[in-house]
Amino acid sequence: MFKWIWSYIRRYRFWMALAVMLTITVSALNMVNPSVTGRIVDRVITGGEHNLLIKFVLIMICCTFAKAVLRYLYQLIFEHCSQNVMRTMRQDLYAHIQTLDFSWFDKSPTGNVMTLLTSDLDMVRHFVAWSFYQIIENSLIYIFSIAVSMQINIKLTLAFMVVAPFVAFLIWKFKIQIRPSHLKVRDQFAVLNTRAGENIAGNRVVKAFVREEYEKDKFDVENTAYMDRNIENADIRIKYTPAIEAICGTLPVILILFGGYLVMNGEMTLGQIVTFNGLMWAFTQPINMFGILVDNMQRFSACAQRLYELHCTKPKIVNTPGAISKTENGMIKPIEGKIEFRNVSFAYDSAKVLDNVSFCIEPGMTVGILGPTGSGKSTIAKLLCRYYDVTDGEILVDGIDVRKYDLQYLRRNIGITMQDVFLFSDSVIENIRFANPEAGFDEVERAAKLARVKDFIADLTEGYDTVVGERGVGLSGGQKQRIALARLFLANPKVMILDDTTSAVDTETEERIRKSIKEQSKGHTSFIISHRISSFENADIILVIENGEITQSGTHEELIKQDGYYSHVYKNQNEL
Ligand SMILES: Nc1ncnc2c1ncn2[C@@H]1O[C@H](COP(=O)(O)OP(=O)(O)OP(=O)(O)O)[C@@H](O)[C@H]1O
Ligand SMILES: [Mg+2]
Repeated sequence: MFKWIWSYIRRYRFWMALAVMLTITVSALNMVNPSVTGRIVDRVITGGEHNLLIKFVLIMICCTFAKAVLRYLYQLIFEHCSQNVMRTMRQDLYAHIQTLDFSWFDKSPTGNVMTLLTSDLDMVRHFVAWSFYQIIENSLIYIFSIAVSMQINIKLTLAFMVVAPFVAFLIWKFKIQIRPSHLKVRDQFAVLNTRAGENIAGNRVVKAFVREEYEKDKFDVENTAYMDRNIENADIRIKYTPAIEAICGTLPVILILFGGYLVMNGEMTLGQIVTFNGLMWAFTQPINMFGILVDNMQRFSACAQRLYELHCTKPKIVNTPGAISKTENGMIKPIEGKIEFRNVSFAYDSAKVLDNVSFCIEPGMTVGILGPTGSGKSTIAKLLCRYYDVTDGEILVDGIDVRKYDLQYLRRNIGITMQDVFLFSDSVIENIRFANPEAGFDEVERAAKLARVKDFIADLTEGYDTVVGERGVGLSGGQKQRIALARLFLANPKVMILDDTTSAVDTETEERIRKSIKEQSKGHTSFIISHRISSFENADIILVIENGEITQSGTHEELIKQDGYYSHVYKNQNEL
């Protein structure tokens, strides 16, 4: 994990090294003022060398000034480096998330992913920007102060160091207790994020069922749990801080008693006591800070661990070595469009969704798929695009297993309009153009015409430039479906899958769209998944899926003659 994080910090290692050097200098400069103060007492006040006063004071002023400037510089460098580390890390993780497959997204709540990319990453930044130099600075201040005070008086220094083992023990115990607590806080934060995100995304459902109170209560539960985790966390921290401070509080007593005794014994001068007094903060501050730093370190490592886990998540669906991607004169060469399912079985988790499904579709054919809800129709579509890999059997495109194709090549050739249409919060034209960003307006318009988007575009306030809300708020269900269809038409893949694409449009528009599909699907293999028999008008073959198995297949005429699901649905829909 640290190696991974180091790989980001490494890029700024020269700047970081410079900043560390400045930190060391500042830590050393911290020793100057107490020493000079001691000398002022011994030589100027007690010794009467008044002419030295100006020199000593000047040294002190210069030192303070230099410290301030250097401190500013290294903080600036650490801050810049940390922001850059966070940016590149976020960029890489975001790119990595793009490579992950459907099964990962199925299992990752949005809130968790958002937490990873925001607050967890910020903890890493905070570590690089603050904790890192604090550790160096405080360790050095402690070491330097020991070195300086050793030169003055070993006995008193050792007396000062007596407290160290006690504090170290407390910090060690604190470290053990705080880490699990940090993990809990962090996880609860992700849960809270997920809850809030879901509520906002589903606010229409909430309002429709008048469940505001219920949602509020549910949120309160998580919110309270978050507070509890934080209080537990704070309890641990609060418990240790006074203990450490109390131990450090013995130092002035040691100084006065033991130091006073040494002065009276003539082993030390008064000025040296003053230097010790000045250095006392250099003994106590690092000790106090170590509690906070350990806390920070633990929090950092909890967050970094989550980020590292994300970084280590490997997509299951990847290109095999030597993946097939056909090109011709630098352009992608389309596939023929022959599709074959050979004894395909599939399970998302443990329950089988598809069981031994086999069929073969020749290029250019139009295939209708009918079946009760939950029977596995969309699953067939998803397998064909290789969003998931089959559990058993194989899917062949042009006689070659889909797993042997280059993923991008495959997905460019097999296009799909998903059942639950997703639109980005962008203009209508950009939503259509998503399929092919280079497409000119003419092409977009042609696709819009075919998908019957043009019928309603004039009704929108700004036509194609109308910005639709998140997930297409502001459009009707049928309008959204038509935009999704236009998107597919613009991509114009060799194999088209229309998953329940016209379920929300009226029958008249559906008929027009059917004509467009017929026109667009010339020379294309197309799959039309639908609950309406009328959608299958142009289908060369219709497959009936029930419970993950193909129970019937044939043309419309053949199927209505058979006593089965198809003829039942047909009779129902035509009220025969
Ligand atoms: N991502 C998923 N993880 C786990 N199970 C899933 C997932 N998607 C679908 N399923 C399950 O797989 C089965 C088939 O789902 P599928 O979406 O293929 O049905 P469908 O035939 O398209 O239904 P509909 O007509 O309602 O669209 C269902 O029982 C569903 O619960
Ligand atoms: Mg479906």
